[in-house]
Parts: sequence; C-alpha cells; structure tokens
Amino acid sequence: MVMKNARCCMFCVLFFLCFSIHLNLSEGDDSITANQSLSGSLNQTIVSAGQTFELGFFTRGNFSRYYVGIWYKNVIQQAIVWVANREKPISDINSAELKILDGNLVLVVKSQDPIWSTNVSSTNSNSLVATLNDDGNLVLRDGSEPRSSEGFWQSFDHPADTLLPGAKIAYDKRTKAKQLLISWKNSEDPAPGLFSLELDPNGSQYQYIIKWNRTRQYWTSGAWNGHNFSLVPEMTRNSIFNFSYVDNINEAYLTYSLYNPESISKLVINVSGQIKLTSWWQGAEDWNSAWSQPRLQCEVYGYCGAFGTCNQNSSPYCSCLRGFKPKFENDWNLRDYSGGCVREIVLPQCGNGSTSTGKKDKFLQNPQVSLPVNSQTVIAGSAGE
Ligand SMILES: *[C@@H]1O[C@H](CO)[C@@H](O)[C@H](O)[C@H]1NC(C)=O
Ligand SMILES: *[C@@H]1O[C@H](CO)[C@@H](O)[C@H](O)[C@H]1NC(C)=O
Ligand SMILES: *[C@@H]1O[C@H](CO)[C@@H](O)[C@H](O)[C@H]1NC(C)=O
Ligand SMILES: *[C@@H]1O[C@H](CO)[C@@H](O)[C@H](O)[C@H]1NC(C)=O
Ligand SMILES: *[C@@H]1O[C@H](CO)[C@@H](O)[C@H](O)[C@H]1NC(C)=O
Ligand SMILES: *[C@@H]1O[C@H](CO)[C@@H](O)[C@H](O)[C@H]1NC(C)=O
Ligand SMILES: *[C@@H]1O[C@H](CO)[C@@H](O)[C@H](O)[C@H]1NC(C)=O
Ligand SMILES: *[C@@H]1O[C@H](CO)[C@@H](O)[C@H](O)[C@H]1NC(C)=O
Ligand SMILES: *[C@@H]1O[C@H](CO)[C@@H](O)[C@H](O)[C@H]1NC(C)=O
Ligand SMILES: *[C@@H]1O[C@H](CO)[C@@H](O)[C@H](O)[C@H]1NC(C)=O
Repeated sequence: MVMKNARCCMFCVLFFLCFSIHLNLSEGDDSITANQSLSGSLNQTIVSAGQTFELGFFTRGNFSRYYVGIWYKNVIQQAIVWVANREKPISDINSAELKILDGNLVLVVKSQDPIWSTNVSSTNSNSLVATLNDDGNLVLRDGSEPRSSEGFWQSFDHPADTLLPGAKIAYDKRTKAKQLLISWKNSEDPAPGLFSLELDPNGSQYQYIIKWNRTRQYWTSGAWNGHNFSLVPEMTRNSIFNFSYVDNINEAYLTYSLYNPESISKLVINVSGQIKLTSWWQGAEDWNSAWSQPRLQCEVYGYCGAFGTCNQNSSPYCSCLRGFKPKFENDWNLRDYSGGCVREIVLPQCGNGSTSTGKKDKFLQNPQVSLPVNSQTVIAGSAGE
C-alpha cells in the first residue's frame, strides 16, 4: 500500500514532465527513436500502427519483478507473446528505461550494466529506430531504411514461448542453428522453463520435437509429407489457418497465417509442456483452442517430477506418492510440478530417522501405475524378499 501511494505521488509530481514526454512519443508511437525512451516509472508503451500489439513493462504476481514484453492489445485475456529480459527481471521499475544506446536497443536501470540488449553491431545510434510492427515483430533498423526492412535485429528471430502468425521456428542448414520456443518457468515467471519446441533434422526427415530440459525428447510431429506432419494431421492448412512448410537450401521451417484478417492467433508451448494453437476474434470472451499436442497431459515427460504421479482423470493431474509431499509448495501451487516430491518423514531404518517409535520400514505397493520410460528394475525372488 505504502509503495502504491509513493508511486501515485511520484506520478503527480511528474505529471508535467510526463505530458511533454508524451507529446514527444506521439510523433511515432509505434517506435522508439534515438531521442526517445520508454520509462518504467511512467509505464509508457508503444503500440503498433494498426493497434494490434503493444510493447511495454509488465509484472506477474510478484511486484518486485518487472519485464519488458509485447502483448496483444485489446484482448481481454492478456497474452504476453514476447519477453525481452526473461532471465533478468527489473527490480527497480522507477529507474528502468528502454532506449537506443551505443547502436542497440537496451534496457537499463540507473547505475547498472544493461539488463538486456539487442547486442548487435550496427551503425550510429542517432539514426536507429525500433519499431513494433503490426505483426508483433519488434525491428531495430536504420531510420533511413523502409519499415519493411529486416533491420539489424528482430524479435521474431528470438522468440520466447510463442509463435505468432508470420514468424517461424527454423532450422538453419548453413549454421546448423535451431530456433527454440521455450516455455515459461511457471505462470508468473517468464524465465526459460523445462519444455522446448524445435525443428530437428533427423537425416533429411525434418520433424518438430518437444524436449524436456533440452535433452529428453517426448513428442514428435513426424515428418512433413507434403500436406501435413504425419503424426499431427491437424497441424495443417484448414479453413482458418494457412500453414506452410518451407524447405530450401538455407533453412527449413513452418509458418502460418490466418485467412480472416480480423482474427488473431498464437501457438504457445505452455508451462505444462504442451503446444497449443489458439485464436481469438472480435467479441470473443476467451482464446479459442484449435488443437494441442501432446494430446494427453500425462504424456509430457517428467511433468510431475520425481516421486510424483500423473493421473489423466484427476484434477490437478499431479500428486505425490503416498508418504511424499511437494518439494516446493509455492511452485506446486503455481502448477510448476518439476521439483517433484520428497519424503514426509525420514525413514527410520533405510534413512536416518528416529527408531524410537519401533516402526519398521517396508515396501508399499503402487498398483495401476505405469513406470517412467527410463525406469530401472531390481530383480527380487518374491514379494517378501
Ligand atoms: C534527435 O535530435 C537531434 C537534435 O535535436 C536531431 O538532429 C535528430 O534528427 C533527432 N533524431 C531523431 C531520430 O529524431
Ligand atoms: C502498464 O500498462 C499496461 C497497459 O495499460 C498494462 O497492461 C500493464 O500491466 C502496466 N504495467 C505495469 C507494470 O503496471
Ligand atoms: C519476489 O521476487 C523477489 C526477487 O526475485 C524474491 O526475493 C521474492 O522472494 C519474491 N517473492 C515472492 C512472494 O515470490
Ligand atoms: C553479445 O554478443 C557477443 C558477440 O556475439 C557475445 O560474445 C556476448 O556474450 C553477447 N553479450 C550478451 C550480453 O549477450
Ligand atoms: C529418426 O528417424 C528414424 C527413422 O524414421 C526413427 O526410427 C528414429 O526414431 C528417429 N529419431 C528421432 C530422434 O526421432
Ligand atoms: C536439467 O539439466 C541440468 C543439466 O543440464 C541439471 O542441472 C538440472 O538439474 C536438470 N533439471 C531437472 C529439473 O532435472
Ligand atoms: C495428411 O496427409 C495425408 C497424406 O498426404 C493425407 O492423406 C491426409 O488427408 C492429410 N490430412 C489432413 C487433415 O489434411
Ligand atoms: C498462405 O500462406 C502462403 C505462404 O505464406 C502465402 O503465400 C499464401 O498467400 C497464403 N494464402 C492465403 C490465402 O492467405
Ligand atoms: C497447457 O495446454 C494444455 C493443452 O491445451 C492445457 O490442458 C493446459 O491447461 C495448459 N496449461 C496451462 C498452465 O495453461
Ligand atoms: C545418514 O547420515 C549420515 C551422516 O550424517 C550420511 O552420511 C548418510 O548419507 C545419511 N543417510 C541417509 C539415507 O540419509
């Protein structure tokens, strides 16, 4: 509360200053130029020319962690589609500024190293412009270049967890570099989480795969057969979505657009490890799901963490084995189950627990549970043994 009042007051003091800056911004309110900046304390934003996207500061849950991101404007269920400083939240929002500095777009906080930077070598700062295009792409270019130019840097080349229409998740055949779509850590923390989507060249059989912790693959789209990916026939052109798969000498990628210019869409790898295509149109109350993969939550590798079990028919899907409790209660409540479960008490005999109760350790049967894919078996002669 105190904090809120302080900020409110600051807002009053800065009113006139704010007014003049605002005039400045309205010259091109879809762009940041060398002479302008976005101020965190004033919560300034830029809006794409067609009013589709907005870029600015946001926070989720924890009010001491702020981020710069892009979201669809005019959508009731706000959806952040890109985050600049995923791993380094801003704690001092009042001194945060997004501006052109030393040939880059940088996020700075008073008297500190940049929190985030486009980190490219470009021309002289004075002519640089960062424009939020109407497709949601933030492009850093020379002001003398046309708006359609690719520029020195663009956010579409550095996606977060969302693929927007017109963007791509590509495999670069020359550099062998893969673009990754990486889930948020949990619903309040955009830091890179455990699940990622990438295009994998298996021989010449390119297929999209989802991995857990960047290593273990648990889903594949199958190869492109000319019309669709063999294991996800729904990921194809239909009456709403115009999917196209491109495979040339330089790169391979999937991209999509919508036939109806009034509707908007996003493909997200969410904190539950599933990819989900949704769309939204004027007047709708929520995002409309077209499809998601893998189809079952419990098909997501390691979803419930160590000593956790996944049950497709219960809500929530994850629970701990008997005698175990969530390792990180807060994360568990935010639907981040990756920490798994730990024993509620230390075992008296097999562990270092108290033996004073006289109770003996024994094995507990867990019927109707299938083992994880990398399970190990210990051979025993009988149940008693
Ligand atoms: C920034 O301001 C300087 C001096 O007023 C001016 O010469 C320059 O053209 C401006 N740059 C942009 C991108 O507006
Ligand atoms: C800044 O303003 C935008 C748009 O009004 C809002 O969605 C966002 O939550 C605000 N951010 C902060 C940090 O208050
Ligand atoms: C909020 O974030 C700060 C800084 O990362 C952290 O110290 C604090 O524990 C967080 N608070 C909650 C309630 O998560
Ligand atoms: C910026 O780019 C250089 C060269 O590509 C790299 O060595 C450096 O680590 C990058 N810095 C950041 C903060 O990403
Ligand atoms: C690569 O392709 C072969 C043949 O289609 C398949 O058996 C194998 O599982 C694939 N490897 C991966 C990692 O998908
Ligand atoms: C993910 O892999 C890293 C090593 O690459 C490891 O340190 C980390 O513990 C793993 N995460 C989980 C949740 O197992
Ligand atoms: C997917 O491709 C196969 C093989 O070309 C085709 O038979 C099938 O109709 C396609 N499915 C959809 C939904 O387009
Ligand atoms: C579908 O997408 C392709 C490739 O992006 C594009 O060339 C084509 O014009 C699109 N079709 C329609 C009807 O929008
Ligand atoms: C992620 O997507 C799946 C499939 O649509 C959905 O069931 C699940 O609730 C989503 N997770 C979150 C945290 O929104
Ligand atoms: C029991 O305690 C000892 C000494 O503190 C330690 O070395 C050992 O790893 C512990 N065993 C278990 C199962 O926790």
